[in-house]
Amino acid sequence: MGNRSTTLLLDVPPGWAGRWAEPLKALLPDAVVLANGQDDYAPERIDYVATFRPKPGFLKTLANVKVVFSLGAGVDGIVSDPDYPKAIPLVRFVDHTLARDLAQYVVMHVLIHHRAQRTFDAAQRRREWRQHPQFVPAEERRVGLLGLGEIGALTAERLRDLDFPVTGWSRTRKSLAGVASLAGMSELPGFLSGSDILVCLLPLTDETRGILNAKTFAQLPKGAFVINAARGGHLIEEDLVAAIDSGQLSGATLDVFQTEPLPETSPLWTHPKITVTPHIAAITDPMAAAASIAAGIAAHRRGDVLENVVDLSRGY
Ligand code: NAP
Ligand code: GLV
Repeated sequence: MGNRSTTLLLDVPPGWAGRWAEPLKALLPDAVVLANGQDDYAPERIDYVATFRPKPGFLKTLANVKVVFSLGAGVDGIVSDPDYPKAIPLVRFVDHTLARDLAQYVVMHVLIHHRAQRTFDAAQRRREWRQHPQFVPAEERRVGLLGLGEIGALTAERLRDLDFPVTGWSRTRKSLAGVASLAGMSELPGFLSGSDILVCLLPLTDETRGILNAKTFAQLPKGAFVINAARGGHLIEEDLVAAIDSGQLSGATLDVFQTEPLPETSPLWTHPKITVTPHIAAITDPMAAAASIAAGIAAHRRGDVLENVVDLSRGY
């Protein structure tokens, strides 16, 4: 480390630095915390960097960086940089608050669909009192989760506790009480055919890009509902609209999009069977992120093994 202070660079959108820097400065009183685009610095002075969607090629310019910290759980915005310095460990954000918030989002939209809330919303606007019967009990509404990692596992438990039969699909098989586990491409068709509600909680990698496509939708039971709270790159938006318009799907809730912010011209905004939210399913809490980054820097300085290091060969 030499005799100069440890320096952490925050690489966040303009105007965002304050809310991230304050908790970091409080937790790292001996470090210098700088904001990219706001503070002057010599690139070789940076020891650690915290980022989410760095400009391609930017991280390579920080010649002495020892650890890159992702401010989000998903690291696709970082590893997609062809110049990402692969020898530097990339630590992603793993925290109960993030998994809890995303699980809440999924539970809310599963329940909105399951309880036909949109039908009652429309009836209210018509001043119509009609007791639309609840046709399907929770025990018969099968929820399939693509991804059974930190977020998928907690979401599965929350849905299981509401009596939904839950199956998770992952690369490797899991053992989670009351949650069925299917794994690998060979078990994907069986997983899809048993998912009345399909929820995507996968990382975006070369293997998962475009996984929500026409072929996938055709394998779901007729009238299935889709929730994408992972990444826009998982979904072929045109295929989704076609599957809904043909009646194969009954609707969708989307938090993430091929292009963000979602362009004003997108037909998704006004589709009567699609709910759009602006990538808010789970927003990193700056306090929790600061605690996690400070712990990571301390571990690195002690020479301890770092937690939550991304396997760059898998891409997540
Ligand atoms: P994680 O702990 O790494 O879990 C990823 C899961 O996906 C694992 O179960 C993994 O299988 C599975 N998986 C990965 N590649 C696969 C493949 N090719 N085939 C089958 N399964 C595969 O990630 P996480 O922390 O749960 O986060 C998941 C994603 O949520 C993030 O990457 C991010 O994109 C998204 N996210 C979105 C928001 C939002 O606001 N919308 C907020 C936070 C996160 P194994 O367990 O077998 O490895
Ligand atoms: C948000 O999208 C995240 O990856 O944490």
